[in-house]
Amino acid sequence: MVATSTDMADYDRASEVKAFDETKVGVKGLVDAGVTQIPRIFYKLPEENFLKESSADQTKFSIPVIDLGELSKDPVRRKEIVEKVREACETWGFFQIVNHEIPVSVMEEMKDGVKRFHEQDTEVKKQFYTRDRLKPVFYNSNFDLYSAPSTNWRDTFIIKMAPNPPKPEDLPEVCRDILIEYSRQVMKLGNLLFELLSEALGLNPNHLKDMDCAEGVRLIGHYYPACPEPELTLGTSKHSDSSFLTVLLQDHIGGLQVLYDDYWIDIPFEPGALIVNIGDLLQLISNDRFKSGEHRVLANGSGPRISVATFFFTGMIQTSKLYGPIKELLSEANPPKYRETTVRDYCTFFRGKGLSGTSALPYFKI
Ligand code: OGA
Ligand code: NI
Repeated sequence: MVATSTDMADYDRASEVKAFDETKVGVKGLVDAGVTQIPRIFYKLPEENFLKESSADQTKFSIPVIDLGELSKDPVRRKEIVEKVREACETWGFFQIVNHEIPVSVMEEMKDGVKRFHEQDTEVKKQFYTRDRLKPVFYNSNFDLYSAPSTNWRDTFIIKMAPNPPKPEDLPEVCRDILIEYSRQVMKLGNLLFELLSEALGLNPNHLKDMDCAEGVRLIGHYYPACPEPELTLGTSKHSDSSFLTVLLQDHIGGLQVLYDDYWIDIPFEPGALIVNIGDLLQLISNDRFKSGEHRVLANGSGPRISVATFFFTGMIQTSKLYGPIKELLSEANPPKYRETTVRDYCTFFRGKGLSGTSALPYFKI
């Protein structure tokens, strides 16, 4: 029998993954070398094809775009906005926001900065390449390279901006200024979003902030190079985020999809908008009231696609703070569904599993 490239019998995934990692130039390195066929480690899992693509009659489904303008001017308007946020968080776990006060010029420069990072001189970029996740500033390809069953067509840098911001001189020079400016603005927006989310849960506006949900901030700069065989792989496998909350800035290429009712629904590029999504930890503390929506990114043939995810959570930082379902939301009819965990323990479990297509949340159920 003739062996095909999909024949797994002669396929030593572990050593191919290691060789890829050791190049330290990620997926962009493959594209720069001119590959016309993608290596097998990038083949998506067959089950990624089981769910349906959004079809014509699914176009009536789209995540809401919420206008945050006039929020502070008018209490009636604020109530309406909170109501829209509540509805989006209970159904999709995703919404887009406009008039959020981050200028388009800052958003554009942030995307340009991520592009400059990934497209800078290879020797300079390689110095940031590591899997040591205690580093405050680093880059690699596929954080879960050694645990995920399938490798994604994506390179990523990660910068921990809070609670202990790196020294400016430790930030990559090609995007230093905009990293500082964008993170300042997105942290301010994060505080506002946690107020709205607290109100949407029927709590005091400061409740989630007082629980330190906004304490940790991680900026993640994704680079999805143009792929020669985009139908064979994914930019990001199906997953939900481990954060409390994620604010995502995407460019015009598209490919981000959220799973709803067994359909993959496109999240289109909206000029000037930011995407907001609930992460696993907020689903956990809301006792399943808010949904951590599963999503993925298709590979594209026309990129590079750039996106910037801001994760609100403290990640692997050692703290003793325990998070469980918020007491004020519980009752006899609504008993706690989850056991308490530290953010670090949750993340350790999430990372160990990698983006393997199943959520980490059920493992924390009582
Ligand atoms: C993520 C993510 C989506 C994107 O970083 O968790 O889902 O568009 N990113 O890059
Ligand atoms: Ni995500």
